This record gives sequence, structure tokens and C-alpha cells, in this order.
Amino acid sequence: MKKTIALLPGDGIGKEVVDVTVEILKAVAEHFNHQFQFNYGLIGGTAIDQKGNPLPQETIEICKQSDAIILGAVGGPKWDQNPVELRPERGLLALRKELDLFANLRPITTFESLLDSSPLKREYVNGVDFVIVRELTGGLYFGKPSERVVKDGEDAVVDTLFYKRKEIERILVTAFEIAGKRRKHVTSVDKANVLESSRVWREVAEEVAARYPEVTLEHMLVDNAAMQLIRSPRQFDVIVTENMFGDILSDEASMITGSLGMLSSASLSSTGLHLYEPIHGSAPDIAGKNQANPIATILSAAMMLRQSFGMEEEAKAIEKAVDNVLNSGARTADLANDEKAISTTQMAEEIKNAISDDHAIIN
Ligand code: NAD
Ligand code: IPM
Ligand code: MN
Repeated sequence: MKKTIALLPGDGIGKEVVDVTVEILKAVAEHFNHQFQFNYGLIGGTAIDQKGNPLPQETIEICKQSDAIILGAVGGPKWDQNPVELRPERGLLALRKELDLFANLRPITTFESLLDSSPLKREYVNGVDFVIVRELTGGLYFGKPSERVVKDGEDAVVDTLFYKRKEIERILVTAFEIAGKRRKHVTSVDKANVLESSRVWREVAEEVAARYPEVTLEHMLVDNAAMQLIRSPRQFDVIVTENMFGDILSDEASMITGSLGMLSSASLSSTGLHLYEPIHGSAPDIAGKNQANPIATILSAAMMLRQSFGMEEEAKAIEKAVDNVLNSGARTADLANDEKAISTTQMAEEIKNAISDDHAIIN
């Protein structure tokens, strides 16, 4: 198969993890006889530095001419004091909006060999397998007004949590569709005891649930959900929630797996052009040191192969290679307790070799 993949490495470790993921994809292409063409685009701080814009039009065009997009991460201290329009994060948010990437799927599954790497006890994290469906193009992130104001003669500030009913509906439908193919349980997380937006969210969740009689719906307040993720994470199958709640809960949930550097994601679009990205950021504290865990991005590439290209066998080959390499004891610094840590590039090299080895056996 011939596919065009847009690569948006971004800033900090984003570049490092995307670089090595490309090597993995080249290995997959070779072993399974595909042709992947990679088109690079600028986003974030790097785009600000080179083009004066965190999301140049050219980058949007590169994305639109591709079959799928892989993004590293954006942001860093260099740009933290910039005016809002010139912040790296602005580029990522604008891309999500421009491409209508409204459903961010963040799977949380534990690897057997990492059960003791989680700060949570092994017996709690063993067998965890759920997905957070995070609404990605609305809510607090995009509501207007969002600005400093003067109220009653005093300096004040306003952010707005805004949703059209249809936007709530489509993310819930996505969650129910996914749950229907899994263990058929949706936990809708909100703050309905305080927020009107959450009360409407609950109404819509009930309406959508009525269309999926085989799927059970549970409502959970977000503060309780934050606690339940630690207390008994196995209870979850599909969590669906508002943009900002999903952002926070998914970083929390990543520690069930042992590291933020393990969590992949797919940002699905209404148009069929989807974006795949690790959930972590640009990690300025380790950027440029060849220390970052590339597995989140490598697993995001596997999600791309499965979801966008229908390449199930190829996706599995990557996932199996990651599992085999972790089983062998290889660890980047975020997961290496007492063991010796290997670098980003070494980890990717091992995963690449594991794909080749495995494929050689199949043939
Ligand atoms: P972060 O996710 O970049 O890092 C948090 C901590 O996790 C750091 O200690 C970091 O070293 C570690 N970490 C993250 N990814 C890792 C990996 N793959 N391997 C090993 N360790 C890893 O979050 P932050 O420090 O709060 O934010 C830094 C910058 O990244 C900010 O500018 C923020 O806006 C941006 N950010 C971008 C994205 C994105 O592009 N999707 C996501 C989150 C944060
Ligand atoms: C993420 C990030 C982004 C978000 C930032 C960089 C805008 O934290 O992808 O989770 O909050 O959505
Ligand atoms: Mn985040």
C-alpha cells in the first residue's frame, strides 16, 4: 500500500521521538511491502522561530495532502512569555480546530513487564485496560470570551466553557461506539453538581445511551473519578469526558502504566484525516539528551496503521515488538529503576530489530 504521512515533530523531545518513530515505520514498510512517503511540517515554537507563526498555512496544506498525521509535541520555556497568538500550544490547538480533530482516544493498558514500574501496587494495575475518550475541540480550551477584563473597575479575567449540544453528542456517540466493541461500559465524567455544561452533558449522555441498550452508562463526578483511577483502575472500560477533564485525568492515568512516556493517542477527525500523538509534552527537562521514552509515539504510529490504514497485522507487529523489548528488560530512564537506562535511539533500534526478527520467523 502507498501512504503519505505528515510528520510534525514540533519542539523539545517531540523531534527526538518522531525521528525514531520514522525509522520504525520505514522498517514496517520494508517488511510488509508498503510505501510510506513522509512530508515534514513545522508547528509550535520551531514554526514561530522559522515562520513567525505557530501553525503556518503550509503545514495545514501538508496535513491535508496526507493520509494521516504524526505529531511529536510543542512548547518550551523559550516561548512561555510570548503573547497568546505566538505561543506554541496555540499552533496545536489551531490544528485540532482546523482539522476538526474532535475525539482524542487515549488507551491505558498495562504491560506485564512494567507492572512493578507503576507507583501503584502491582495487584491494582495488573489487567488494567481502558480508554479515555477526550473531547478535543471544545469546552474550556476554545470558549470565548477568554481574556483579561475590567469588572467593576477591577482587573479580572474570564475563560468560557462552551459546547454546542451536537458537539457533546458526537463525542458521546464515539464513546458508545467504542464501548460496544469492548466491555460495553461507559463512564461519563463531569462536574454536574456545579456546572450547567455538565448537566447538559449528562442529559445528552442519557439520550445517546438509550440508542445503545447493550452498553451500560455510569455518571461519575470528576473529583471522584480522579480518586477512582488510583483506587481501582480496573473498573473502567471507556471514560468519556470534557476537554480539560480529559487532559488532566489522562496524565494521571498514565502512571498506571509506569510512565507518561508510554501513553499513545489518536485524535480522530470528522473528515477521516486523523492525527496521532503521544499524550506527553516536549519535556524541556530532558530535551536534547536522547533520554526520552519513544514508546508513546511508536505506539501512536501503530494506532495510525490500524485506524487510518487498516493495517492490523502491521500495528500488531509494532505492539508485539514493544512488548518483547520491554520483556527483555530494556528501559529508558523514566522506567529504569535500578537497571541501566538505554537511550531513545537505542530503545527504538531494539524495537526495530524486534520487528525484523519476528517477521523473519513468520516468513
Ligand atoms: P511534559 O509532558 O512535557 O513533561 C512532564 C514530565 O514528564 C517531565 O518531567 C518530562 O521529562 C516527563 N516526560 C514527558 N514525556 C516523556 C517521555 N517521552 N519520556 C520520558 N519522560 C517524559 O509536560 P510539562 O513539563 O508540563 O510541559 C512542557 C511543555 O510541553 C509545555 O510547554 C507544555 O505546554 C507542552 N506540552 C505539549 C503537549 C503536546 O504537544 N501535546 C502536551 C503536554 C505539554
Ligand atoms: C495535550 C497537551 C495540550 C492540551 C496542550 C499542549 C495544548 O497538554 O495534548 O494533552 O492541553 O491539550
Ligand atoms: Mn496534556
